[in-house]
Formats: sequence, C-alpha cells, structure tokens
Amino acid sequence: WPKTIPRAKGFDSTLALLNEGYRFLPRRFEALDSPIFRTRLMLKNVICMKGPEAARFIYEDPRLTRVGALPSTVLWLLQDEGSVQQMDASAHRHRKAMFIRMLVDDTTSMDRMAAIFRRRFLDRIPSWTWRKEVSLASEMEIVLFQTALDWTQTPIDPDSVGDDAALMADMVSRAGHFGPRTFTTLLRRSHLEKRLRRVFSDIRSGRIALMPGSPMAVIANHRDKHGHLLSPEVATVELINLLRPIVAVARFIVFAALYLHQHPDWRERLREKDSERLTDFVEEVRRISPFFPFVGARAQSAFEWNGYSLAKGQWLLLDLYGSCHDPLRFERPGQFEPERRLRHEPCDYSFIPQGAGAYATGHRCPGEQATVRLMMEAVDILCRSIDYEVPIQTLTVSLRHIPAGPRDGFRINQIRWRD
Ligand code: HEM
Repeated sequence: WPKTIPRAKGFDSTLALLNEGYRFLPRRFEALDSPIFRTRLMLKNVICMKGPEAARFIYEDPRLTRVGALPSTVLWLLQDEGSVQQMDASAHRHRKAMFIRMLVDDTTSMDRMAAIFRRRFLDRIPSWTWRKEVSLASEMEIVLFQTALDWTQTPIDPDSVGDDAALMADMVSRAGHFGPRTFTTLLRRSHLEKRLRRVFSDIRSGRIALMPGSPMAVIANHRDKHGHLLSPEVATVELINLLRPIVAVARFIVFAALYLHQHPDWRERLREKDSERLTDFVEEVRRISPFFPFVGARAQSAFEWNGYSLAKGQWLLLDLYGSCHDPLRFERPGQFEPERRLRHEPCDYSFIPQGAGAYATGHRCPGEQATVRLMMEAVDILCRSIDYEVPIQTLTVSLRHIPAGPRDGFRINQIRWRD
C-alpha cells in the first residue's frame, strides 16, 4: 500500500501562506512531524516537501515538469512562457546549454561581468560621498542593471536606465503579491519587451553590430535543436532572464551589508584580502538569507515516489528556505556562521538557495556562480574601499514578507574612501 501523506489543518492554506511567508512550510513540517504534507493553495491540491531526497526528486526526476507549477502572474514576472525554465527533457538541455556557456563554462565571460560590476560600483561612489545618505538596495539595483547591460551588450536608451532598473527590481519584489501593482509591473514589462524585440530584429537585419560571443549575440544567434533561430519574443524573454536576476543580486548584497553590520569582527577580517574567507562569508549569506522560498513542479504522469502515490498533474512544492535552515544538516541554522565554509556543489541537496543538482540537466540556477562573484566584489568594496556609518533604521527582516529584506533597503551615510 502507498504511504499516506499527512494533511495540514484547514480547507485551504492560501491565507496562512500570505500571513506566515517563509515560515509557512517549516511550521507545518514541524507540527506534523513529517518531511511531506498535503494541503490546498488557491484551492488547488498541493504536496509540500523538504529535505535532500525531495530536492533530488524535484530537480532530477524526468517525470516532473515546471509547466503549470507557478501561478500565472508569478510566471510572467519571473520566467515567462517560452523560457528555459518552462522546457523539459532534450529541448530544455539544448536551451540550458546556451546559459551554461555564458554563465558557467566561459570563465572570461564571468571575469568580464565581475570587472564591469567593480568599475560601475567604484564609479558610483563619488556621488555617494556628498549625499546625506543612500539606500544600498536602490544603488545596487542601478549598478547591477548597468553591469547587466554592459555585460550582455544590450543597447538601451541611457535615459531609461533608472526606470528599467526599477522595473527589474519590481518584477522580483511583486512576485510574492497579487494586486493592481502586479498588473502595472506586468504592463511595464510588456513595454520593455516591445523595445527589446525591436533590438533583436535590428541585430538580425544587421542594423546593430555586436561583439561576437557577447550574451546578446549568443541569444540572437542561438538555434533550437531543429536549427531555427529563437523568435524575437523568446529571445527577449531569455535576455530578460539574464537582466532581471542580475539586478536581483542586489537583495543578497543588502543582506551581506546587514551581516557585516551585525558582525563587525567579520568586517574587520575581510579588510585583509583573502578570497577563501570572502567566499565563506558570501556563501553563508546565501544560505541564511530569505530569498526564493520554494520552487514548484508537476507530475507529468501518475507514479509512485518513495512509497507515495502521486496522481498525474499533481502539484508539488519544495521548501528551499527550509532546506537551507534544516537543523539536521546545519547546526544552529539560525546563526550566521561563515566558519561552515559552505560551497555550492552539485552533489549537495541541502545548501540549495538557487536550486539543486546538475546545471546542465535540471532546472538549477545557472547564475549561481555569477551571483557569488558579484556578491564577493560588492563585499570586498564595502570592506576595503570605503568606510560608512549605518544610521538608526529598522533592520529587522520580517519573514512574513516574500521576498524579504530590510524595510528601507539598508541606508548608509558618511560614506568616504578608505586610505
Ligand atoms: C533558475 C534563484 C540569480 C538565471 C533559478 C532557480 C532558482 C533561482 C531557485 C530554479 C528554478 C526552478 O527550479 O524552477 C536565483 C537567485 C538568484 C539568482 C536567488 C540571486 C539573485 C540568477 C542569475 C542569473 C539567473 C544572476 C543569470 C544571470 C536563471 C535562469 C534559471 C534560473 C536562466 C532557469 C534555469 C532552468 O530552468 O534550467 N534561479 N537565481 N539566476 N536562474 Fe536564477
């Protein structure tokens, strides 16, 4: 007989999820004393799971798909139809290889991204030194968007950079909400898409020339497994799939600044150049900070997994936040301890802030190394290039709010160059 999956209390848990945020899943695993439970979200039956076995299942089982696993508004904000994240099997592997070439295999491309970010960040600092205070989140969003544009070689009107950077950040911050502002953000996204589609048409007609091998050129020239170029619509979706998450790294950088503030001993230690120590710090920030709470999948057929019977079309959620805070894998999971010396490894199914398993075959985030590199550059500049004060502000991070972050985006003042 298949094992029974415990059911969470209540007819539907949507309100509880909106209320409890990141704690919604971990609380129920604990209350039911089970790494798996069943509930309803938006009136739909869903099975929620945690732990390394579940992570391996959600990221490696070919009987699962990401299609239909996210509410439509979240999908349109974060990945969109036609994107790599909505593909399966060989078509997915073929498209994913394009991202891996740019973001994993081509180390010079990564070095270029890190160097652009460093230059853009340092160039921005003089304007900080005469301002009363700055919000690190907004500043990082602009610096990262400029980095993403330079790195991909996306030709965007310089006058619209501020608005477009804000749009990228809004796509991420609105993903956890439903309401009129979500629809305004989607409308702004569709205007940007229209502009970018024209850029792809101009590239293909030879009106715009690009550096060979630049991400923009790679996407414009990518052919699907039948030898067809991507449509301008899909090419645009995949370009936004680079621009938006690069801007989203601002969230992790803000958390890094927060932990530097709360752990001045680490700030002191990182004043000395030591890339191992810097990696320890940044990886612990990725583990402990609330960002992507969970990912979804659907069963493409009926089958049995781990003794549980899953129906065709069954909706599944994997708890990423809870996995990174699982006391069975991490001692004192709520404590910030870079001494854990975490590294993102394909065989690790617990330290999974950006997904699990192999990059090439599953849906694990191909931007993980880029994220770590950008965070390392940012922390290095915050510790070694400048000094600043942190004025009184609310620094508590509410786990009820998805995605979470300090309310004011971490304000800093009295910014000055270090000697
Ligand atoms: C996929 C998180 C940064 C590009 C994912 C997934 C997660 C994630 C959890 C897996 C989705 C799933 O399993 O369905 C994050 C976080 C980031 C980040 C927290 C920090 C800011 C980046 C960056 C890039 C990127 C910097 C590119 C420059 C992608 C793409 C996918 C993806 C293209 C889809 C992969 C696939 O479906 O095979 N990301 N990501 N991400 N990420 Fe990231």
